[in-house]
Amino acid sequence: MKKTILEMKNISKVYSNGIVANQGVNFSVTEGEIHALAGENGAGKSTLMKVLFGIEAPDEGEVFWEGRSIHIKSPLHAIKTGIGMVHQHFMLVPSLTVAENMILGVEPKRKGIIDYKAAVRFTKETAEKYNLPIDPNAVVASLPVGMKQRVEILKALSRGVKLLILDEPTAVLTPQETEELFRQLLEFKNQGNTIIFISHKLGEIKQICDRITIMRAGKCMGTYDVAKVTEQEISSLMVGRDVMLEIKKSKPELGDKILEVKNLSKKSGEKLLLNDVSLSIRSGEIMGVAGVEGNG
Ligand SMILES: Nc1ncnc2c1ncn2[C@@H]1O[C@H](COP(=O)(O)OP(=O)(O)OP(=O)(O)O)[C@@H](O)[C@H]1O
Ligand SMILES: [Mg+2]
Repeated sequence: MKKTILEMKNISKVYSNGIVANQGVNFSVTEGEIHALAGENGAGKSTLMKVLFGIEAPDEGEVFWEGRSIHIKSPLHAIKTGIGMVHQHFMLVPSLTVAENMILGVEPKRKGIIDYKAAVRFTKETAEKYNLPIDPNAVVASLPVGMKQRVEILKALSRGVKLLILDEPTAVLTPQETEELFRQLLEFKNQGNTIIFISHKLGEIKQICDRITIMRAGKCMGTYDVAKVTEQEISSLMVGRDVMLEIKKSKPELGDKILEVKNLSKKSGEKLLLNDVSLSIRSGEIMGVAGVEGNG
């Protein structure tokens, strides 16, 4: 039997505006697993994790860490306990370098001055230990989003946590960055650590999670082995009714080509904004243009 590393019992949280974000939630996590926390927008996932990470105080309920009752008072207390969190919105300081961000809050000092060399060394050592290469001297603002996230993850791991909470980590990533993140998460798990993975992307949950807890309107709808529930069952539990996962569309009636773009490139200074882009649109169609922020 694997041991239960975390247990949250009967957690309730009412915000000051009267919104009941968590209502009698029971949530338990086994050591060494990737545990998905799923639910629609506003279901209360982030709130539950903020309670765990010491950002929000619960109105009711109790938290047990490795079998012992614990009252987590602050994020610092959570980190000391062994719990790290990567937030839905990054918390890095964009104007600082990776190394400076890594040591924020725990600055190594020499004669009262921040020891930048030590920070770079610390960043390199952490990056090597977890096999997450990063340039310590890069300014965070200049990094692509996947790299920013890597800094957040490294920062949490550098504090020696053994449970990592990731709040919708793939929302801002390209498919390639997502694959890379998954590789990193599996490696962290294989080192004996535990992950709580907040998501509402069922495919991703199926791909890397072991168990799933589903929340709806502040309540826990149960915990399941990921291998034993279908995507259809998960989405029904999330929204409270049957959901159509297949979309039926009639065939478009396409007319003539009305717009064509051929080999379009554009520079801004040295930066290439567009690189040889071609596309054409016909009347009667809706064309999707896909890509993540900052890609033209
Ligand atoms: N600081 C706050 N003050 C008041 N209400 C809040 C606060 N934070 C969240 N809420 C509300 O509490 C409910 C639960 O929000 P929460 O952020 O926990 O949901 P979530 O499951 O993480 O949703 P999402 O998928 O959109 O991130 C929502 O109705 C939200 O509007
Ligand atoms: Mg959230």
